Amino acid sequence: MPVLTTPVTTNKFVDGEGNKTQQHSDTAGIALQLRSVTKIYTNTSHALLDVNLQVKHKEFLFITGPSGSGKSTLLKLLYGAELATQGEVIVHDCNLATLRGDRLSLLRRRIGIVFQDYKLIPQRTVAENVTFVLQAQGYTRKEIQRRLEPTLKLVGLLAKADRFPDQLSGGEQQRVSIARAIVATPPLLLADEPTGNLDPDNSWQIMQILEKLNSFGATVIVTTHDEQLVRRCNHPVVQVRDGKLYRK
Ligand SMILES: Nc1ncnc2c1ncn2[C@@H]1O[C@H](COP(=O)(O)OP(=O)(O)OP(=O)(O)O)[C@@H](O)[C@H]1O
Ligand SMILES: [Mg+2]
Repeated sequence: MPVLTTPVTTNKFVDGEGNKTQQHSDTAGIALQLRSVTKIYTNTSHALLDVNLQVKHKEFLFITGPSGSGKSTLLKLLYGAELATQGEVIVHDCNLATLRGDRLSLLRRRIGIVFQDYKLIPQRTVAENVTFVLQAQGYTRKEIQRRLEPTLKLVGLLAKADRFPDQLSGGEQQRVSIARAIVATPPLLLADEPTGNLDPDNSWQIMQILEKLNSFGATVIVTTHDEQLVRRCNHPVVQVRDGKLYRK
C-alpha cells in the first residue's frame, strides 16, 4: 500500500551533486517519496499543499481526483518537469530539487512517461516514435531492433509499425505512447490519464498492458478519472482533492 506519510526531516538522500548523505532506513524498498510538498504555480493558488506520499518498488498505484486537482502536477514533480515550491521530492533516492543536467537526464532514463496528450511526432512512423529516445540515448541499431519488436507486440501494434500517427485510432496512438515509455524497460512508469478519451474496451486493453509491466517488476503510477476502471482493478488508490492527498 502507498503510505501517506507524516514528514520526516532527519533523513537524507543522495543529492544532485552525488554527495553521499545519510540514508533513510527503508530507502532500499522505496521507489519514491513526497515530503511536505507544496506546489504553487506563478499567479495561481496552490496545486498541492503540504502533501506526503511514499510508494514502494513494484507497487501499482492509482491517482484519482477531479479535473484541475493536481494529478498531472504530482507526476510532473516526480519526473522533474516542475519543481516543488516547498518540500522534497525523492525518486530512486535522488532529490529532484538538487538534480541538474546529466544527473536529471540519467534519472529520467529510468522513468517511463505516458503523457496525457500522447506527444507523438507526426512526421515519424510508429517504429520511429518508439525508438527515437533509444537513438538519442546512443543505443546500438542492433539493441534498438532487439527491443522494438517485443515492445510493439506487447501493445499490439507490430503490424502497424510503419504507419504515421494520423493513420491510427486514438487508442492506437495511446498504445504507441505506452510503447515509447516502456521500450527502455524503466523501473518506474508514470502514466497520466492513459485511458482518457478511450472506450471501455480500449481502456481495459491499456490497463492489461500496464499490469503486465507491473508484473515484470516496474513500479506503476496511473492517474485517471475513470472510477469504473479503478473499481475493476484491485490496486490502491490515492485521491487528490483541494491540494491534499487522501487514501481511498
Ligand atoms: N503551468 C501552469 N501554470 C499555472 N497553473 C497551472 C499550470 N499547470 C497547472 N496549473 C494549475 O494547477 C492546478 C492543477 O493542474 P493539473 O494539471 O495538475 O490538474 P489535473 O488534476 O491533472 O487536471 P486534469 O484532470 O484536467 O488533467 C490547476 O488549477 C491548473 O490550472
Ligand atoms: Mg492532468
